[in-house]
Amino acid sequence: MKTGLTFDTVALNDQENALVIIDQTRLPNEEVILKLKTQKEIHDAIYLLQVRGAPAIGVAAAYGIYLAAKEIRTDDFDTFLKEFRVAKEYLNASRPTAVNLSWALRRMENVVLSNADRTVEEIVGLLKEEAVEIQEEDIRICRAIGEHSLSLIKKGDGLLTHCNAGQLATSRYGTATSVMYLGQEKGYDLHVYADETRPLLQGARLTAYELNKAGIDVTLICDNMASTVMKQGKIQAVFVGCDRVAMNGDAANKIGTSGVAILAKHYGIPFYVCAPSSTIDEKLSDGSQIPIEQRDGEEITTMWYQRKMTADGVKTYNPAFDVTDHELISAIITENGIARAPYTESLHKMLSGTKGH
Ligand code: MRU
Repeated sequence: MKTGLTFDTVALNDQENALVIIDQTRLPNEEVILKLKTQKEIHDAIYLLQVRGAPAIGVAAAYGIYLAAKEIRTDDFDTFLKEFRVAKEYLNASRPTAVNLSWALRRMENVVLSNADRTVEEIVGLLKEEAVEIQEEDIRICRAIGEHSLSLIKKGDGLLTHCNAGQLATSRYGTATSVMYLGQEKGYDLHVYADETRPLLQGARLTAYELNKAGIDVTLICDNMASTVMKQGKIQAVFVGCDRVAMNGDAANKIGTSGVAILAKHYGIPFYVCAPSSTIDEKLSDGSQIPIEQRDGEEITTMWYQRKMTADGVKTYNPAFDVTDHELISAIITENGIARAPYTESLHKMLSGTKGH
């Protein structure tokens, strides 16, 4: 399955001790590759959304903690573990909502804890293997999500997506976009509508850019046009990604997603959430427990504009994510299959690897 991008979203350059990313804040106008060498550079790149999207953040954190582990100068396991945990907590604090970040870091920590009888050098080698596996798994998972999603659409469909749950948010194919890449390969003649996604414009800058590069028919709309294209019959299904799913099926994704789900329900259009199982948070029973990142109001008033767009003193409120109620979600698609309501049952089955239906 082909995508149109000639660079990796996230990669490891082990010789140069660097995490290599495409700077997503410069897309689509400039393709700038960054080599991040310090923990601060990696932390800040995640916070600033130079690398973003739940699975890509997880992969970046896995390589980041491996690079941190490589720098720890000790042969003593306890000292190594202590310093490893300091680096882990630092990276973990870069963004709160996408559970893939803490999931990947915990998975890396488990490698350390379950190999306490090995030398530090051996543990560092195992950490590299685990980080590479997290990335390779991400590619396999996105492909599987696309295959399951394809069973939910038909040739000629119009699909709406919000934010960027594409290759730029993962290691390849994306989650919500995987069905679009697969559909194109199989001659489905899909018509994709991308919400621009205020305030940071991931839909305009990233989704429209990557689908267009792949030769997929994509049309950019402002967020407030979704109702119109739905009413006009242009949309047969909505596919979005997500940052964290609670066990009752409530799903956090980019701010504005919940509004799209409400519109889809009104117009009788299926609303699908694509979620690697690493995005399901077993510890949370419902969406009210999902931490929602609050970001600087400057992203609303100034960023992407030539001049500030508000009068001095105007207050802002800038939650980066919202939670879509499970009642609005037609299905949650993971690498293990398609989960439907009641999600308390189907997601448990998903997590134990049992296929949904
Ligand atoms: O703030 P962002 O750009 O990291 O938000 C990204 C999203 O909301 C994506 O839809 C989500 O991470 C899923 S990515 C496969």
